[in-house]
Amino acid sequence: MLLLRTDPTRPDPSVIRTAAGVLRNGGIVAAPTETVYGLFAHAYREDGCAKVFKAKGRPMDNPLIVHVDTVEMAMAVADIPNDVAEVLRRVWPGPITVVVPSRGVVARCVTAGLPTVAVRAPAHPIPLSIIKELGAPIAGPSANKAGRPSPTTAGHVVDDLDGEVDVVIDGGPTFFGVESTIIDVTKRPPVVLRPGPFTVEELEKLFGPVSVPPVARGLAEADVALAPGMKYRHYAPDTVLVIVHFDLAEAVETLRARGLKVAVLCATGKCAEANYVIQMGDDLYEVARNLYKSLRDLDKLGVDVGVVPAIEERGVGLAIMNRLRKASGHREALNKEQLLAML
Ligand code: TXA
Ligand code: MG
Repeated sequence: MLLLRTDPTRPDPSVIRTAAGVLRNGGIVAAPTETVYGLFAHAYREDGCAKVFKAKGRPMDNPLIVHVDTVEMAMAVADIPNDVAEVLRRVWPGPITVVVPSRGVVARCVTAGLPTVAVRAPAHPIPLSIIKELGAPIAGPSANKAGRPSPTTAGHVVDDLDGEVDVVIDGGPTFFGVESTIIDVTKRPPVVLRPGPFTVEELEKLFGPVSVPPVARGLAEADVALAPGMKYRHYAPDTVLVIVHFDLAEAVETLRARGLKVAVLCATGKCAEANYVIQMGDDLYEVARNLYKSLRDLDKLGVDVGVVPAIEERGVGLAIMNRLRKASGHREALNKEQLLAML
């Protein structure tokens, strides 16, 4: 495994050439995007794609996102309606992924054989330069082991995938910290499959009313492949984590009275004293940026339980609560009786 460091704003051309060469030959490369680190293969190569699934330990029926540099490149892999293309010209590159009909040109493994394909242009000079150098799209999921929190630093990638990736590009911490918003525009109204940094409020300005099913809020796991990724456990730390909808200090006291060692993940001013305190941030974007690192850090503390305050589900708060619900295995306590029942 080759670890290459480069400035994220002005990527070193030799690093970009090395990465593109590896991808061209069917290898796999982990690199930052503006959301989280991705694990990439040439989108047209079955062998590269298969290596991504193997390295990640990902079930083969959970498709990857195809990353492009322009709307034109997206149109080569997908059949994009004119009105959607218009919108994409305004919002790309950026943290918004559209599910559109596939033209069947990317490797079958990438779309898991589905008639649709998920496409986005990442707003990050490293993947954009790699795509340009390669002259082809790159396909990939987040660069974590399946079920683990997504990586927001190269260190997280190495922790999960050391020895299983040909090249890891360290371009520093990612900007948003949660994965892109996924919207299925083959449906009327369009369906939000995964909330992300591009908010529902912003989506509705572009697409008109959109549907946000309970699974997109993280309230339930999809039993059918609405978005294939939804049926798998995600983002999970090993430590028991509970979302607290009542007074945080009362929650901590209740747990400590039982002799438990407690960590609090503080967010947007909601905090309490405990054995350990992890400050995620004062505003929602800062919380999003620190979320996965905080979940990874939680596991290093050796506490019995972690508690996190419920976040209001507006703006990027919707994306945060979706991840927290999954990370907690849907443990949400409205009062201390419920909290104790969850341990
Ligand atoms: O920000 C991101 O989206 C990051 C960076 C690397 O781009 N990628 C990412 O990929 O987080 P990940 O691990 O979430 O995997 C791709 C997601 C899965 O949830 C998958 O189910 C969904 O995209 N997906 C891919 N193709 C799909 C399709 N045709 N229909 C519905 N969902 C699809
Ligand atoms: Mg992922």
